[in-house]
Amino acid sequence: MKVLMIGDVVGEGGCNFLCLKLPNIRRSKQLDLIVANGENSAAENGISHKSMRSLMNAGVDVITTGNHAFRNHQMEEMFEQCEFLLRPINFPPESPGHGFFVYDKGPFQVCVINVIGNVFMQTANGNPFEAIDKVLAQNQHKITLVDFHAEATGEKKAFAFHLDGRVSALVGTHTHVQTADEQILPKGTAYISDLGMVGAIVSVVGVSPESALSNRSPDSPIKHKTAGGPHEICGVILTIDEITGKASKIERFRQI
Ligand SMILES: [Fe+2]
Repeated sequence: MKVLMIGDVVGEGGCNFLCLKLPNIRRSKQLDLIVANGENSAAENGISHKSMRSLMNAGVDVITTGNHAFRNHQMEEMFEQCEFLLRPINFPPESPGHGFFVYDKGPFQVCVINVIGNVFMQTANGNPFEAIDKVLAQNQHKITLVDFHAEATGEKKAFAFHLDGRVSALVGTHTHVQTADEQILPKGTAYISDLGMVGAIVSVVGVSPESALSNRSPDSPIKHKTAGGPHEICGVILTIDEITGKASKIERFRQI
């Protein structure tokens, strides 16, 4: 099967660009499943009902998030109700929603798991290694995809080797900058440190440079304006053997 995993979708511009391009990408690449990180997709903060609808209309099948999952408190109920909208499995236990979802793709199932890192993340989350061991012990699916929403490359890479051979793919999100280290690890897990984003090319991780520069004072409230202009869609396309669950190919994807 072929899966497209997309990095953080930034703001209304990112959602609109995805709606414009993704249907054709899905057809031309013959994709079976599309996963995207939607934690920054709202025009204001986090993810909203409107941005979630946009992602679904574009063709995204499973939406992952991260440290901004609950920025918009109005979405807490949606996280409870909607099974394909995920928040990290290692959020505090009282958090609304759930961290994994099994997508039923006819003869085979795909388990998508969302995890958040601890290094430089400024949020108090559970141990990602222990959390995923627990989920994998209770949910054994041949095909498993993991979005590890984390800042530090070292933590992402260590997590990847912890999971090598146990999941089909582990991809990083959160930094919004696509890395060039895509590879198949020795035991068959596809890996990239960061997928990149869906956002404006001339920007500071999707934010307008003027807005990013004007908010550098520690005293100024952080309210960023997303950048306009040409956009990019960044991610990876995975080819996964449905019988073994191993990844045979990982290709970096970028469309402008
Ligand atoms: Fe994030």
